[in-house]
Amino acid sequence: MGMSYQKFYTGFLNANKNKQHYACHSHYFWPDCTRDAMLEYWDDSAKYVDEKWGYFFETLVPELQQRISDILNTHAPEQIVFAPNTHELLYRIMSCIDVSTPYKVVSTDSEFHSFHRQASRLQEQGAIELITVPTKPYSTFSSRFIAAIAENDPELVFFSHVFFNSGYVVDDVDAIVNSITNDNTLVVVDGYHGFMAKPTDLANIAHRAFYLSGSYKYAQAGEGACFAHVPIGCNLRPMYTGWFAEFGELDKPRIDGKKEGVPYSLDGMRFAGATMDFTALYRLRAVLRMFEQNNISVETVNDYVMDMQRIFLDKLAAYDHPLLNARHLAVTDAQKRGHFLTFELDNADVTKKCALALKAHHILTDFRGNRLRFGFGLYHTPDYIDLAALSDIT
Ligand SMILES: Cc1ncc(COP(=O)(O)O)c(C=O)c1O
Repeated sequence: MGMSYQKFYTGFLNANKNKQHYACHSHYFWPDCTRDAMLEYWDDSAKYVDEKWGYFFETLVPELQQRISDILNTHAPEQIVFAPNTHELLYRIMSCIDVSTPYKVVSTDSEFHSFHRQASRLQEQGAIELITVPTKPYSTFSSRFIAAIAENDPELVFFSHVFFNSGYVVDDVDAIVNSITNDNTLVVVDGYHGFMAKPTDLANIAHRAFYLSGSYKYAQAGEGACFAHVPIGCNLRPMYTGWFAEFGELDKPRIDGKKEGVPYSLDGMRFAGATMDFTALYRLRAVLRMFEQNNISVETVNDYVMDMQRIFLDKLAAYDHPLLNARHLAVTDAQKRGHFLTFELDNADVTKKCALALKAHHILTDFRGNRLRFGFGLYHTPDYIDLAALSDIT
């Protein structure tokens, strides 16, 4: 281990002294370089005024597209498109689907609210038929999911790389995507809990799947910088479209073979919306540059964080706590675990009580229903992890 990364996070660490923050899986501490990035955004806005958009699209956007494409190994930076949140991108993807008759969606019972709420609402309206595959038991999830896709031949498949409510890693994303035989089926991988946490290689599916993620979690740059990788060669025409989708080289669609249709950018920008605040993109660029300058790869981060989880579990074992113990872990195999530990307790009340007691001892976690989550990040060290308070919590 040796190396401490805390020097990159002094601002957030100093503002949270005497607290143990284990919610990086939700809201990562921002590295100090992001503060300078926000000031730089202001300065560039002052300097370039109306010209700033040209400047952003010629410098900032291509650099970020390249960096993200490299991290995900898509070999297609031009297919990356930005938006303030993933919900907007999801809805834009869904707007490509013909709604004249209800269409089928195959997904899981463990998708984040951005998808879950939207899909539930569309189902309520009769616009979609939602087929929900339980993620448990995890060991058979992929085969059950593949079978549900084959059986239903849906218009849309949506699933997470790493499930937000357990941390379980779907390690055969390629197999799921490549099992889909209908070329018209849209496939979306929610990569929010994977991006910058688990080493991810999209090379084999970059021509076939959409991948969504953003910077609020493991990319450590806060809210406002989400993105989609749009499948290479995709010529879909989202109904929900903004004027940024008309940047760069455009297609020249003919509607009914005669009339000229609304043109779209030839690359991932065809999934763009409209004016957004690029401050978050400045922060994201600063983080990715800082990582590069310090030779911090996603592999480095993953190794470090999984070490912290192991140290945490070793320390925990000493307490033989009735609630927080390895028997209550949602995912016991560290190889299949994202960057947080999920403890499944008896019910929501017990869980809330436990989280609040931890909070009273300045141990910050988060919980949903009966699941209590402890996230780990680069600003943790073996010394940072102090579980002495557990003796007072029952
Ligand atoms: C799996 C997953 N997807 C997406 C999001 C974020 O969605 P949005 O960008 O729509 O707010 C989160 C959490 O914030 C998440 O856990």
